Amino acid sequence: MKNLVLLGPPGAGKGTVAARLVREFGFIHVSTGDMLREEVNRNTPLGQLAKGYMARGELVPDEVILSMVRQRVDAQQGVLFDGFPRTRAQAEGLERFTCVDLVIFFEVDEEEVVRRLSSRRICASCGAVYNLVTQPPKVPGKCDLCGGELIQREDDKPEVVRHRFAVYMKDSAPLVAYYQSRGLLHRVRADRSPDEVFQAIAEILRA
Ligand code: AP5
Repeated sequence: MKNLVLLGPPGAGKGTVAARLVREFGFIHVSTGDMLREEVNRNTPLGQLAKGYMARGELVPDEVILSMVRQRVDAQQGVLFDGFPRTRAQAEGLERFTCVDLVIFFEVDEEEVVRRLSSRRICASCGAVYNLVTQPPKVPGKCDLCGGELIQREDDKPEVVRHRFAVYMKDSAPLVAYYQSRGLLHRVRADRSPDEVFQAIAEILRA
């Protein structure tokens, strides 16, 4: 099975489509954002180190991320990398311990990202993702899957979102050209419904 990278700005819908790709294609989900939030919640040394970077919308240092991912992945196949790699150094580091077969680039503009993230809520217990406008929970404030409390991420405040987008443009957007030059990049318009985005990616995977 192939290793897949989901690349795109914050709020592009990577996590939303990743959950469905994992369910329907059986990928192993590696989301560096989820892994870091788990470390922060458990107040581990790694979580303590990452917390400030995340709250400010800055990237956690490359060597920390690479060592965390390497421990989790270790030459497995069928891995879906969500929000990783995010810098050239991470992309090159990843190639030293596993291969990348396909990269999906989520194309969406900054205003749409800000709109989506200002109304995103996540489950404090299981991490499921909702949107008050486009994907509201059945019972307000409660997770459909586990009944957990829905909260707003600290870094989803508008001023932090704008900074995360700027960091993405500076550090992560150059990976589009990096993967394009390797013939691995597939562009997907992410300003469509979650189902349309999923179908577009499923078609690429089945080709
Ligand atoms: P991370 O958690 O990875 O955040 P991100 O990449 O900024 O992505 P998001 O989770 O914000 O967005 P998403 O694209 O998954 O969108 P979602 O599906 O939720 O990283 C957080 C922080 O951790 C970073 O800032 C950094 O500090 C650190 N970090 C993580 N990885 C790192 C790395 N590799 N290196 C260094 N530091 C790292 O959707 C967003 C909203 O829109 C939801 O409400 C959803 O319901 C809605 N939505 C989704 N799809 C659609 C659609 N098609 N139409 C309408 N609404 C939609």
